[in-house]
This record gives sequence, C-alpha cells and structure tokens, in this order.
Amino acid sequence: MKTRESGMPEEFVWNGFFDPEEVLRTLGLDASSGNVVDFACGYGTFAIAAARMVPGTVHAIDIDPEMIAATRRKANAAGLTNVTTWLRDLIADGSGLGTGGAGFAMLFNILHAERPHALLEEAHRVLLPGGTLAILHWKHDPTTPRGPSLEIRPRPEQCLAWAEETGFRLLDPGIVVLPPYHYGMTLERTPVDSDVEGRPRVLPKATSAREPRRLAPEFGTQR
Ligand SMILES: C[S@@+](CC[C@H](N)C(=O)[O-])C[C@H]1O[C@@H](n2cnc3c(N)ncnc32)[C@H](O)[C@@H]1O
Repeated sequence: MKTRESGMPEEFVWNGFFDPEEVLRTLGLDASSGNVVDFACGYGTFAIAAARMVPGTVHAIDIDPEMIAATRRKANAAGLTNVTTWLRDLIADGSGLGTGGAGFAMLFNILHAERPHALLEEAHRVLLPGGTLAILHWKHDPTTPRGPSLEIRPRPEQCLAWAEETGFRLLDPGIVVLPPYHYGMTLERTPVDSDVEGRPRVLPKATSAREPRRLAPEFGTQR
C-alpha cells in the first residue's frame, strides 16, 4: 500500500527543491560507495544523480508505475546502464534485493511512513556491515512549500532515534541542514545479530572503528 502523504507534485516543481548531486555528496556518496539502493525513488531525482557518481548498480524502487517509468526514461535518455528499476511495495514485500549487497542506501522524504521501522530494517538488511544509510527529509517547519503534514513529519531527532533502534550509528558531521527545505544525516550500518524474537540487536560499540558524532545542540530545537 502506498505510504500516507507520499504523492508527488509535477516533476519540475519537485526538481526545484534540491540540488541532488550536492545533497548526495554532502551525505557521503562517492565513487567508492558500491551498489546503491534508493527506497521509494519517486521521479528518480536522486537515483539518476547517484548513477552518474558511482560505477556500481543503482537500484531504484517505487510502488508507483509512473515514478518507475519516469526514472527508467531518464536513465535511458542519459545512457546510464547502471540503473535498475523495480516496481514494488516496499512496506508489504520489502525490496526483493539480496542481503548485504549494497554499500549505500537512501531513505529520502519517506520516513513519515506508517511503519518507518520496516523501511529502516530493510535498508539494514540490504546494506553490507559498515555500509552507509543516508536519510533526508523536509524540515519540521510549516513554511516549507511541500512535505507531509507536521503531525506526521518526523523531526531529525526522531529519524535518528528510529535509525539507532534499527542498528545504525550517526556519522560525522551529524545532522546537517540541506537548504532550503531539508535536513539530512549519514549513518553507518553496525554489525548486528538477532535477539530471541528475531529483531536486530546492536553489537558492542568496539566492533566499529568509526565514531559517530552526537546531535549538534542547535538541532535539538530545530523546527
Ligand atoms: C515524497 S516521494 C519521495 C521520492 C524520492 N525519495 C525523492 O525524495 O525524490 C515518496 C515516494 O514514495 C513512494 N511510495 C509510497 N509508498 C510506497 C511503498 N509502499 N513502496 C514503495 N514506494 C512507495 C511514492 O510512490 C513516491 O514516489
């Protein structure tokens, strides 16, 4: 089922909200990122930009046939052979991708979903240990020109808490502002095992070399 309030405006309007390459660079994507998964790719705004930046495969997944067609069209027009599109209900059926095959996953403008943990857990599953999760969402600010209603729009601290519960750790530089309307963060998939109920359990901190930076104080009050 389509996530609540996940409809899109016309593509030219959506494109006006981001500089996709700059966003991806800021959130840690580079040529060494490996295979990429764009969860709920929409028009492929970020999947297409990512495909220009990495030699790996970019898996672009969405429930909406129009979004998948738009992404496919753009990849073909740009001659990008490393974009694979998947028409799929991520919440009901997962991504369908293999476990641990991706180096970089994106959850952009989608964590207001009814079940954000389902998306985070699937991102965790497809990522290699030490792989990167990038999160981006609309600022919690009533003046943004789009974005889900404030009642369901997660603040950055909320996204971070959900991600930590799922087995991710915040990396430098912490939560960042992505002007004009978004915030973002980059996290590391920590090595995990499962508890008795099969839920991911984070292993001791010593298993990872990189140290996360905690939330900058100014984000504690961000609206
Ligand atoms: C607000 S758009 C964000 C698109 C893209 N991530 C971006 O930031 O440009 C949300 C997208 O989620 C997709 N979506 C909603 N529910 C979904 C589901 N259950 N499985 C896969 N995609 C879904 C919608 O079709 C839409 O393209």
